[in-house]
Amino acid sequence: MVAIMSYVSQNILRSLTDEESKSTSNPTIEVINQVKNYGFVHIKPEYYINSKINLDLIEDMQEKYANLSKDSSPGNRFRAYACYDWLPNEQKFVKQNTTHYFQSKEYNYDDGGKVRLFDPIVEAYLNNPVLKTLIEKDVELAKQTGIIDFESEFQMGFHQIRYKAQGTEPSYSSPVWLHRDDEPLVFVHLFNLSKNVLGGDNLIATDPKTITHIFRLNSPLETLLLTKMPYHAVTPLGSSNGDNAFRDILLITFMNKK
Ligand SMILES: [Fe+2]
Repeated sequence: MVAIMSYVSQNILRSLTDEESKSTSNPTIEVINQVKNYGFVHIKPEYYINSKINLDLIEDMQEKYANLSKDSSPGNRFRAYACYDWLPNEQKFVKQNTTHYFQSKEYNYDDGGKVRLFDPIVEAYLNNPVLKTLIEKDVELAKQTGIIDFESEFQMGFHQIRYKAQGTEPSYSSPVWLHRDDEPLVFVHLFNLSKNVLGGDNLIATDPKTITHIFRLNSPLETLLLTKMPYHAVTPLGSSNGDNAFRDILLITFMNKK
């Protein structure tokens, strides 16, 4: 266990410099420092692995991407949605009955300014212990960044999304290029990436003309944590051999109510 923890703390963040790595040994503190300095963190899967998680449980969640409904917006994405309200007086989350989702025009120039209705996420996915662990860790990080006020109401949103490309037809995000999200804190958790993908790479930019980082989420539970500080985008997904290619992710978003 000690050996594993030491491996985790030394390797949890891909983009830390050697000096930064030496200065801290607590993975959560490392993540928080990185968020404060750069506005994003690329987190390795080991950060989320614990004794409650095993490969079968991850596979159970991966299988739930095959039955998602197609998003009516362009981009060949298949998705479902769930949202929870945080009640500060009771210190608990309550699931919303609706699966309407709204983004402002300011942040999504393609699909913003309108309400979109998605299928609900199936209960078996929401109740999987892997998801419970992701939530626990993400809530803790949301608290510690100070970006989300836990003394006020906020929403925790879940977007289960499959990007699916085939032939020469791409799958792509909305908005398609560099942008910032409505939500001030967004966790992009990878669940599956087929071997035949082209693209699907994450971009980080200081402004819409200056890209500073490019990387790909490759392994299940590998994560990108985003704030509104940098711009970001994911490059369109293609298929290298014409067969179905897919990138399965779960976005967990946090936003205080206005
Ligand atoms: Fe985004």
